[in-house]
Amino acid sequence: MTPVEDNCNNVVFLIKEAHDVTEHKRREAELTRLNDQLTTSNRELEQFAYVASHDLQEPLRKITSYAQLLLEDAENLNPDARRDIDVVIDGAERLKVLVGDLLTFSRVTTLGRPLSLVDANECLQAALENLELTIQESNSVIKCDTFPAVVADAGQLTRLFQNLISNAIKYCDEARPTVHIGNRVVDSQVECFVKDNGLGIEPRYFDKVFEIFQRLHGRTAYSGTGIGLAICKRIVERFGGRIWVDSDGKSGTTFYFTLNMDSQGAQA
Ligand SMILES: Nc1ncnc2c1ncn2[C@@H]1O[C@H](COP(=O)(O)OP(=O)(O)OP(=O)(O)O)[C@@H](O)[C@H]1O
Ligand SMILES: [Mg+2]
Repeated sequence: MTPVEDNCNNVVFLIKEAHDVTEHKRREAELTRLNDQLTTSNRELEQFAYVASHDLQEPLRKITSYAQLLLEDAENLNPDARRDIDVVIDGAERLKVLVGDLLTFSRVTTLGRPLSLVDANECLQAALENLELTIQESNSVIKCDTFPAVVADAGQLTRLFQNLISNAIKYCDEARPTVHIGNRVVDSQVECFVKDNGLGIEPRYFDKVFEIFQRLHGRTAYSGTGIGLAICKRIVERFGGRIWVDSDGKSGTTFYFTLNMDSQGAQA
């Protein structure tokens, strides 16, 4: 600190103050620059995911259909070659599902409808209708509470309920999977939950399950690409809420998410 004196020998510290403001401004400018960089990089990544998943669909369709034609046309193909072509078809089919899921993931933000006050009960019912066959075939018991109106995009809220309920039924070895979809109002938010009596999730995986393409169970035992919960997280965050999971790792899992009851805090 450099003391500066005026004509009457009074000490003033203007120099130090000027220095502090400059440093503050420099940091602020740096933060703005980094923030802009991050926004651009996120937008580019978003664009890449969209273009890649969209444009890969057509060539993939071609691989599957031509491989199938090859199987049909080449009657004298030896068993080894047939098996090889089957592997190609199987791989292309799986890639098609993955690419489709990635497209759904990137569309949460690119094709989302504006947020408005919606009837969560209707969205929950729509999700249950979409899962009707799964519920019947698995002998599941579904219990639903009444929900208040929430700020959301109805299509995406339906998808959110659907992904969580389908997981609750899928990751369950009980003869009667039981799912309770409920809520409680906390301040101006609704804390929703989807509780099951399934396999459970160990606490060390609580964050990991929300990451894209992360699965805890093998593909042969339980089908899936590992994108459902990443989509749920994206949807909830778009609505201005948060999502988390709780489980003792062996007897059931509860997924929680918050939703706003008025437009405050929601991001379009
Ligand atoms: N209710 C649940 N009980 C136990 N494990 C679960 C539950 N929900 C999710 N998991 C675990 O978290 C992983 C990620 O779930 P997520 O829904 O993202 O993917 P998925 O179900 O494998 O595939 P999909 O993209 O078809 O939904 C699952 O593979 C499973 O291991
Ligand atoms: Mg899933």
